[in-house]
Amino acid sequence: MTVCEYKPGLEGIPAAQSSISHVDGQKGILEYRGIHIEELAEKSTFLETAYLLIWGQLPTKEELEEFEKDIRYHRRIKYRIRDMMKCFPETGHPMDALQTSAAALGLFYARRALDNPAYIRKAVVRLLAKIPTMVAAFQLMRKGNDPVRPRDDLDYAANFLYMLNEREPDPLAARIFDVCLILHAEQTMNASTFSARVTASTLTDPYAVVASAVGTLAGPLHGGANEEVITMLEEIGSVENVRSYVENLPPKAKIMGFGHRVYKVKDPRATILQKLAHQMFDKYGHDMHYDIAVELERVIKEKLGDKGIHANVDFYSGLVYRKLGIPSDLFTPVFAIARVAGWLAHWKEQLAENRILRPTQIYTGDHDMPYTPIAQR
Ligand code: CMC
Repeated sequence: MTVCEYKPGLEGIPAAQSSISHVDGQKGILEYRGIHIEELAEKSTFLETAYLLIWGQLPTKEELEEFEKDIRYHRRIKYRIRDMMKCFPETGHPMDALQTSAAALGLFYARRALDNPAYIRKAVVRLLAKIPTMVAAFQLMRKGNDPVRPRDDLDYAANFLYMLNEREPDPLAARIFDVCLILHAEQTMNASTFSARVTASTLTDPYAVVASAVGTLAGPLHGGANEEVITMLEEIGSVENVRSYVENLPPKAKIMGFGHRVYKVKDPRATILQKLAHQMFDKYGHDMHYDIAVELERVIKEKLGDKGIHANVDFYSGLVYRKLGIPSDLFTPVFAIARVAGWLAHWKEQLAENRILRPTQIYTGDHDMPYTPIAQR
């Protein structure tokens, strides 16, 4: 076997052949199954988009109705899972709570009938249905309240906001949240998807696949950046402070919400999220942190634009979420609710042509070393 050049971060190394999504990082294009993200954001719903990603084509009216009906039916979580979550420390991060709860689903549902399409569909439905319920349940329980039961008369996005805020959202808020879910549903071979595929390739159960991906998404270089952006905007505090904040950062400091391995222009999802933020502000009032964000984007473009560093999906999403009543440490769990669709699409694709993902390494250690007895070390 030929030994390949080592690429830190596996940059540019294909880890799979995939027909799920495509990014053109120079043109700022993102497509799910060939459909541009802008068109899906305008015309689709999250569950329709999830169906498209997982089964490869848009559903017919009947297929979509059946899928939505199944998901409504499976939204509840078992009382044992709720009781387990009640034991989590309320100071724990909601991403850790979500990873643990997602993994716990594997205890309840029959394992590894991976060659059975009915098992695959059930697992897809359960994960899409239950993850939002678990995120909302932890939020209420850590405040000392009982979780709210899902409402079958509400659609996917409205039901989540209802379970989280204990009141029915108005239709604009629910629609905007649904669009946020569409935007975050999939993004080629990002770190959490890679993690999902590695786990899937061992033929373990889908709950372990999603739990490993949630753990990977949590870090600040990946999904965790959305929470860090809001902290940074609050720390900056005013539009006037932006330039001095940037100029006083330590050399090589990473500014959260900027930069991407693939996009070398502004992330198309950031552009859509910015428009959604405007819609939110028009209806629910302005957020002065948005003005700070716009100024920060302008200064970063001036300073780092030539290096291809621009706003990514995590830069404006938090400003939209805040207006929807979502606390900042739930931004990444909300990202996970959406990305479950992409992870499951990759799980299914990996299974279809599976070979265990087992890369190599370049050994840089010693050889033929003597074993020194402990008394002589
Ligand atoms: N702020 C300042 N400089 C940056 C940034 C940034 N956010 N991102 C990259 N750079 C610089 C970096 O210092 C390096 O400069 P040099 O060549 O002089 O050493 C160059 O750009 C390449 O950076 P890199 O870290 O090698 O790029 P990468 O492809 O390994 O990392 C990234 C991509 C997203 C991890 C990185 O841009 C980053 O840490 N961004 C901030 C965190 C963030 O917003 N993450 C969300 C990513 S998008 C959505 C998601 O995945 O959740």
